[in-house]
Amino acid sequence: MAMKSYFPKDFLWGGAIAANQAEGAWNVDGKGMSVADVAKYKPNIDKKDYVSQWHVSPKQIEEAMKTDDTVYYPKRRGIDFYHRYVEDLALFEEMGMKCLRVSIAWTRLFPNGTEKEPIQAGIDFYVRLFKEMRKRNIEPLVTLSHYEMPLYLVNHYDGWVSREVVDMFVNYAKVCFEYFGQYVKYWLTFNEIDSVFRHPFTTVGVVEEKYSSKKEAENAIYQALHHQFVASSLATKYAHEMIKDAKVGCMLTRTLAYPLTSNPEDVVLAQRHNRENYFYSDVQVFGEYPLFMKRYFEENNIVIEKVEGDEEILKQHTVDFVSFSYYMSMIKSVNEESMEKVGGNLITSVKNLYLDISDWGWQVDPVGLRISLIDLYDRYHLPLFVVENGIGSIDELVDGQVHDDYRIDYFRRHFEQMNLACKEGVEMMGYTSWGCIDIVSASTSQMSKRYGFIYVDADDLGNGSYKRIKKDSFYWYQKVIKSNGAEL
Ligand code: BG6
Repeated sequence: MAMKSYFPKDFLWGGAIAANQAEGAWNVDGKGMSVADVAKYKPNIDKKDYVSQWHVSPKQIEEAMKTDDTVYYPKRRGIDFYHRYVEDLALFEEMGMKCLRVSIAWTRLFPNGTEKEPIQAGIDFYVRLFKEMRKRNIEPLVTLSHYEMPLYLVNHYDGWVSREVVDMFVNYAKVCFEYFGQYVKYWLTFNEIDSVFRHPFTTVGVVEEKYSSKKEAENAIYQALHHQFVASSLATKYAHEMIKDAKVGCMLTRTLAYPLTSNPEDVVLAQRHNRENYFYSDVQVFGEYPLFMKRYFEENNIVIEKVEGDEEILKQHTVDFVSFSYYMSMIKSVNEESMEKVGGNLITSVKNLYLDISDWGWQVDPVGLRISLIDLYDRYHLPLFVVENGIGSIDELVDGQVHDDYRIDYFRRHFEQMNLACKEGVEMMGYTSWGCIDIVSASTSQMSKRYGFIYVDADDLGNGSYKRIKKDSFYWYQKVIKSNGAEL
């Protein structure tokens, strides 16, 4: 299907992966353990139960630290991108990808997070990776922290609750800019910074069981979040100082909410949800906490300890662009208690009768992507980058082929809406589909939840040849990129 493309000429079409879901090699070349290495695969997990999918208890951490098992800890093996990145980049190049979003495993450079100097083998790996990308004309977009903080900092510093972690992270960020800045211009600081309350362990290293009440845990999470905001601003400052033309973005999970009905109370609920979602990017774009959050803290006795100068740091070092992940929309209603729910990784919501749902119960809403793009642009007036979007599906490998027309249909419908957003004046920098090659799922640690244009022959327990196989969608995306979005 051909249509007029409104995508900018230099639009960065690409794909995205994260170190902890792709690299594997969890304990080689001096790498330390990260929070991802204790995430256990739980067979027969309830697809809607996202809380227990993500939850890691103190007992589970202890157990995980005692074992070298990689069968039930799939993020330790990933898809072996650490050793196979050249082959994978060659496939991305063949697809025509102009950009690849990756993250750096903090623990590959600083095994505990506390060290002053990085491990050379870790630096060498990323230099090789970024050089290879440049050689293939694939622009790197790099996340400094994607759910993979050093486990040591969780066990010895209460994660991001401790102020000292800010300095450790900033040291890590400066090392990244120093060694990789000549190859990498586009940076993201924290992946889905708003996920602090959905899965605090993975995001800020907060173990909720350590706190005597929900209230105390909530306070600790806001404290940890404040530290990430400050660290993000400082990383932005140093990126700007150390790398010529560096562009730094924030990264939000856009969880768009609609009112179920025109009942103004439903509209208020949806509006409240959306403002709470925007709170995170508001801080990173406007450089200050919004009044409604300050009031919330006051009225709920949440005390965030700040160091003198924090407010200036937030104000002075705001982001250059806004990036976000987009998977689904949700519904708000005053009557939602009694209504049928659907859900998944991120949110549970009242079922939207106008939308399809994925194999994992996520509500597929392409028009919601256009709405999100327009709303975000109107709010921030900054260029936008969709850095995650895609559908997790069960793919079948038959006679060496995967006919994933459902994936093509998903992307086609989302790209049409992006094109319309561009037509309506939204400034878009690029689009990186999530898991452009199959990787381990963040929430369920499954391999069978596949997002890729490239199939990886491995099952949930890690059996398989790990051979890479091009799916039908591979050839389709190749055409899309070549035509800059005109051939869908
Ligand atoms: C996002 C994360 O929330 O969703 C990714 O940033 C993750 O790391 C993606 O993989 C899809 O979620 P899942 O659980 O299906 O892998």
